[in-house]
Amino acid sequence: MTDPMPAYAEKLIRGRRAVRAYRPDPVPEPTLRAIFALAGAAPSSSNTQPWQVEVVSGAARDALSRDLLAAADEQRLSMDFDYHHDMYTGVHRRRRSAAGAVMYGAMGIARDDQAGRDAVNRESLRFYGAPHVALLFMPPNAEERMANDTGMYAQTLLLAMTAYGVASCPQGLLGFYADTIRASLGIEEGNDVRHLLRLRRHLIPVEQDRCAARGVGRDHPLPPLAPRALPFRSSITIQGRRACGRRGP
Ligand SMILES: Cc1cc2nc3c(=O)[nH]c(=O)nc-3n(C[C@H](O)[C@H](O)[C@H](O)COP(=O)(O)O)c2cc1C
Repeated sequence: MTDPMPAYAEKLIRGRRAVRAYRPDPVPEPTLRAIFALAGAAPSSSNTQPWQVEVVSGAARDALSRDLLAAADEQRLSMDFDYHHDMYTGVHRRRRSAAGAVMYGAMGIARDDQAGRDAVNRESLRFYGAPHVALLFMPPNAEERMANDTGMYAQTLLLAMTAYGVASCPQGLLGFYADTIRASLGIEEGNDVRHLLRLRRHLIPVEQDRCAARGVGRDHPLPPLAPRALPFRSSITIQGRRACGRRGP
């Protein structure tokens, strides 16, 4: 019998694309739970699993979008990681330009159309219409190694979403508004209710949502959850709808 796994992996990995227009229908909670439980099987250095995820939906999601748009209007940028255009040189700079040309070209926005580009940025602060946003945090003392782990988690999450017919778009742009996001979600110094206090500094956002189910992976069962995954409730918070589980200690 032919091993189905290579074909399955080809379909899953190549089937994931950054999607920038969403239907408003919420993802059913059991699907969200299954996705995040699966993503928790991501590898990490010494199995530290240093990521923390906030899933924001409903009124909390709308408020977050409003707060981001207000911050953009007032040019209130706050980054946990510095960003410089000139970090991209040579072939990387060329690839970046080419990707921008393809994306804006598909939207009919010319290279010198700054208003058009600003409108796209605003739309991305509305999460391209997605009803859910997953925000990935790292601990305050996080360095490159933990960013590596969190990147591993991010890609595992994107693939888990693809497997369940849920579309996604990683959004580095949201990382330009780290303080706004923390304030909007109530992740602030002095908020002694949450253990997230410890996680307040670093932010890597990922947007997620459902679009047309693609049927990826439906013919073959997903592998079982790796036992190394932390219990769901210890690392995931779902805001704006019934909680998926209590916060961890
Ligand atoms: C770390 C990271 C940050 C990204 N930030 C954004 C973003 O802010 N806005 C956006 O529309 N796409 C963003 N993307 C999506 C990339 O543009 C996209 O992954 C890339 O062009 C390849 O296309 P594909 O994901 O469809 O294969 C980001 C992707 C990654 C991995």
